[in-house]
Amino acid sequence: MANRIRKAVFPVAGLGTRFLPATKAVPKEMLPVVDRPLIQYAVEEALAAGIEDIIFVTGRGKSAIEDHFDHAIELEGVLSGRGKEAELAAARGPVLSAGRIAYTRQQEALGLGHAVWCAREFVGDEPFAVLLADDLVMAETPCLKQMVDVHERTGGNVVAVMDVPREHTNRYGILDVGADDGKLAEITGLVEKPDPKDAPSTLSIIGRYILLPRIFSELDRHEKGAGGEIQLTDAMARMIGGAPFDGLRFEGRRFDCGDKVGFLEANIAFALARDDLADSVRKILREYH
Ligand code: UTP
Repeated sequence: MANRIRKAVFPVAGLGTRFLPATKAVPKEMLPVVDRPLIQYAVEEALAAGIEDIIFVTGRGKSAIEDHFDHAIELEGVLSGRGKEAELAAARGPVLSAGRIAYTRQQEALGLGHAVWCAREFVGDEPFAVLLADDLVMAETPCLKQMVDVHERTGGNVVAVMDVPREHTNRYGILDVGADDGKLAEITGLVEKPDPKDAPSTLSIIGRYILLPRIFSELDRHEKGAGGEIQLTDAMARMIGGAPFDGLRFEGRRFDCGDKVGFLEANIAFALARDDLADSVRKILREYH
């Protein structure tokens, strides 16, 4: 029987260069969509999928993330004294259970594969999830929960995938596909950021993964790939042919919040989904036609 997915790794050590100067002193993962930081959406998605243990792979200048998931004693005291119950609940909302959260440091941003490898001692010998907070998914059933359900059936590796325009294949990890029932696509090959003319398909991986612990032995090689970075995609590609490896066309809408336009779109979409904001935001948007 497949192991239950209990642990999730959040690589948050990237430099966020596409968002400078905003990300000079503020981690990219702390940029807010409406009123909560990207990382909070990702953590809430993981908890809703049954994750119990959270591991952040951080870097220099990322301490705001640690503070966000801790108590803010002074602030909470002031809010409580003023009887601001809703604000107090918002401040306490992200606090995670003691002993269920760990931080490790990736001292140099050597790539996503290397960031995941840095979590190896915390994960140990069990399947686990990886979530990239800059991929924000709006879904009725949280994207990771959809993937956990697949893993419970297959016992294998699962990545969330979506079709992208062919001219964008050079931005993503792209699948070579075997059996495909329109929802679940068997992965027979993986290539990181292929040229549109060489891409084996237009199915691209987004920042949600369920991986078997064998990934760590593949990452042990520290091989550099596209862009001179240690790529997670390359290590995943070497696992193909062993345990089942599937791409799930998840139900929901993904926003690439690592990109300025994607980030702005996410703010609009999430504001329009809020009862307290939708009407005023719609009114403003009409002025920009
Ligand atoms: P990205 O390439 O999208 O993030 O990595 P980045 O490098 O921070 O951003 P840009 O491209 O310079 O604007 C995807 C995810 O992997 C993490 C990032 O924090 C992000 O969540 N990452 C990337 C690491 O943790 N370590 C790395 O060495 C690289």
